[in-house]
Amino acid sequence: MSDALLSTYDRAPITIVSGHGCTLVDSDGREYLDCIAGIAVCALGHAHPAIAEAIEDQARRLVHASNLYSHEPSGMLAKELTRRSGMSRAFFCNSGSEANEAAMKLARKWAFRNGEPRRSTILSCTGGFHGRTLGALAATENPKYREGFAPLPAGFTFTAFNDVAELDAKLDGRVAAFIVEPVQGESGIHVAEAEFLRAARRLCDERGALLIFDEIQCGMGRTGPLFAYENAGVRPDVVTMAKALANGLPIGAMLVNERAAETFQPGDHGSTFGGSAVPAAAALAHLRVRDELQLEGRVRERSVTLFSLLRELAARHERVLGQPRGLGLLIGLPVREPFQAKAIQRAARESGLLIGTAGGNTLRFAPPLIIEDEELRRACSLLDAALATAA
Ligand SMILES: Cc1ncc(COP(=O)(O)O)c(C=O)c1O
Repeated sequence: MSDALLSTYDRAPITIVSGHGCTLVDSDGREYLDCIAGIAVCALGHAHPAIAEAIEDQARRLVHASNLYSHEPSGMLAKELTRRSGMSRAFFCNSGSEANEAAMKLARKWAFRNGEPRRSTILSCTGGFHGRTLGALAATENPKYREGFAPLPAGFTFTAFNDVAELDAKLDGRVAAFIVEPVQGESGIHVAEAEFLRAARRLCDERGALLIFDEIQCGMGRTGPLFAYENAGVRPDVVTMAKALANGLPIGAMLVNERAAETFQPGDHGSTFGGSAVPAAAALAHLRVRDELQLEGRVRERSVTLFSLLRELAARHERVLGQPRGLGLLIGLPVREPFQAKAIQRAARESGLLIGTAGGNTLRFAPPLIIEDEELRRACSLLDAALATAA
């Protein structure tokens, strides 16, 4: 069935046909406990009735009208997101990479409009991941993603993650923006220290650059609060989101504070589908359900449970596993060489558990935020069994 698809992914040999809650079902009727949620996307799990209803209801009224006109879902979503973040304006697109493209273009245009056309460098962090389009890739340091795609756009430089001294040296008068993930996902789940984010805020202010937080993976409540930056108490000028925003429908967003809100004028940037009515309606439903379920507190509680279960597992399999790290329900579990995270992921799948992997030979947990303690316990006992097989 997958022969006609380009092999951009090393797809597992199962075909998913449906899901409910934290469970996915394959074409043989086999059930899996889903602890990766479509790579940190399905925060409310699968087939959530409120999301399904919002999609159906909106699809019956209006699917698409383009950004030549206003329509209710995108206007209301912009209002909700700016209200909740304290930002001034929202721009909608269709993916995380596109949200970052928008943010980096905005930074350059912002400097240009401020009479500083030579302030064009985008500074980002080692280990960071910002997407696969050429611009987002240029801001992504890992050679694994860049190899074979040269020449990438010019004007991108890197600084070590969590290194304040290097940031101080690199964030000079040519930098239009510094972009960083408050929790790095693809690198293997590394949390930015609050001190690093605070220094980034201070240095961007002092040197006249914009601070962009890429919350595509770590945002939308994955660490507890709606935005991961709330944990550190540091507000960016621009924040990018995608993945979980509409619980599985494609939408990306860039939120901009008052400092840069007037940068883009008609014609400066755009997207045919950006903020289309159905994904925007799903995103609004997601925000509503998130409030109803008081997910912020639940994520904090489930995080304590998962960390403690993973620590027990690490103690039991100390030859294979290192200590878990991360924030909220975005947790990495490092695997010691010669054992391979991919092999453990495969064994876990065969025992009925879906987890991800990330850089640095790490297992990645990003379950639906609605997961229950009992499901987390089941996940860890399935992983325990898989470790016995894989190791
Ligand atoms: C932090 C971060 N930024 C950007 C992206 C790119 O998002 P998309 O795949 O929707 O283009 C990802 C995707 O994994 C991500 O984790």
